[in-house]
Amino acid sequence: MTSPAMNMSTLFNLEGRCALITGGSRGIGRMIAEGFVQLGVRVYITARKAEECDAAAAEMSEQGTCTSIPGDISTTEGLASVVSRLREHESTLDILVNNAGAAWGAPFDEFPEDGWDKVMDLNLKALFFLTQQLAPELRAAAASGDHLAKVINVASIDGIRTNPNETYSYHASKAGVIHLTKRLAAQLAPEGVIVSAIAPGAFPSRMNKVARDHGDELQQRIPAGRIGGPEDMAGVATYLASRAGDYVVGDTIVVDGGVVASAGL
Ligand SMILES: NC(=O)c1ccc[n+]([C@@H]2O[C@H](COP(=O)([O-])OP(=O)(O)OC[C@H]3O[C@@H](n4cnc5c(N)ncnc54)[C@H](OP(=O)(O)O)[C@@H]3O)[C@@H](O)[C@H]2O)c1
Repeated sequence: MTSPAMNMSTLFNLEGRCALITGGSRGIGRMIAEGFVQLGVRVYITARKAEECDAAAAEMSEQGTCTSIPGDISTTEGLASVVSRLREHESTLDILVNNAGAAWGAPFDEFPEDGWDKVMDLNLKALFFLTQQLAPELRAAAASGDHLAKVINVASIDGIRTNPNETYSYHASKAGVIHLTKRLAAQLAPEGVIVSAIAPGAFPSRMNKVARDHGDELQQRIPAGRIGGPEDMAGVATYLASRAGDYVVGDTIVVDGGVVASAGL
C-alpha cells in the first residue's frame, strides 16, 4: 500500500541544497559532484591540488554552481581550513560526501609505516573528523529544512572482500569506513543526520588505473560485463542524498556490477 502523500516527482529532488564533496576534483568524487551540480545542488569540492580543483569547479560551473575549496584534509590544519572556508559560504550543510581516499601497495615484508599512516589518516581519520567538525552545520540543515541532512561515505568492495593486491592499510581502512558508518549513523540519526556509505567496485580513475587503462580485460571478470561509469555513481549518491534514501541508515550499498555477489565465480 502506498502512502497518499507519496510524491514520486520530488522523491529524488535535490534542488537548492548544498553539498561538500571531498576529492571532488576527479574520479568518483567528480562523478558525484557533476551529478549533483546538474540537479541544482550548490556543490563545493575539495582536493589538495588547487589548480586541478579550481579547473574542475570552473568546468562544472558551466552546468550549475560549483566552488573549489582546495586543501589537504588529512592534516588537522588543512581540514580546519576547508571547514572555515566552507563556513564563509554556507551556514548549514545538507550533504557531506566523504570521498577523498588514497591507497598504498607494497609487499607485506616491506610495507612501510608511511603507507599505513597516509592511508589511515585520509580514508578513516579525516572522514571522522570532517564529519565531527561539520556536524553543527549538518544538524542545522536538518533542523531548519524540510529534509534530513546526509553524510555519504565512500568505502570500497575491498572493505568487504579481499583481493590479491598487497594494499593492507587500504583494505583495513575501507572495512573501517563500513563499520564507522554504522556507529556514526546510530549517533547522528536521532538528530536528523543520516549516515550511509557506498562501496564501489571498479571505476576508472587515477587511483584505479587498471579500470581506467585496462577496462576491456577487467570487465570480463565483472558479471555486469562492464566497469562502472559516472551515471552509476551519481545515481546511487542521488538516491542516498535525497528523500528516496532516508531509510538507508548506517548501511553500505555495493555498486560493483556483481563482483561481491558472485564471489569470483
Ligand atoms: N576508482 C575505483 O575503482 C574505486 C573503487 C572503490 C573505492 N574507491 C574509492 O573512491 C574514492 C575516490 O577514489 P578515486 O578512484 O576517484 O581516486 P582518485 O581519482 O585518485 O581521486 C581522489 C580524489 O581525492 C583527492 N585527495 C587525495 N588526497 C587528498 C587529501 N589528502 N586531501 C584532500 N583531497 C585529497 C584527490 O585530489 P588531490 O590529489 O588533488 O588531493 C582527488 O580529487 C576513494 O575513497 C577510493 O578509495 C574507488
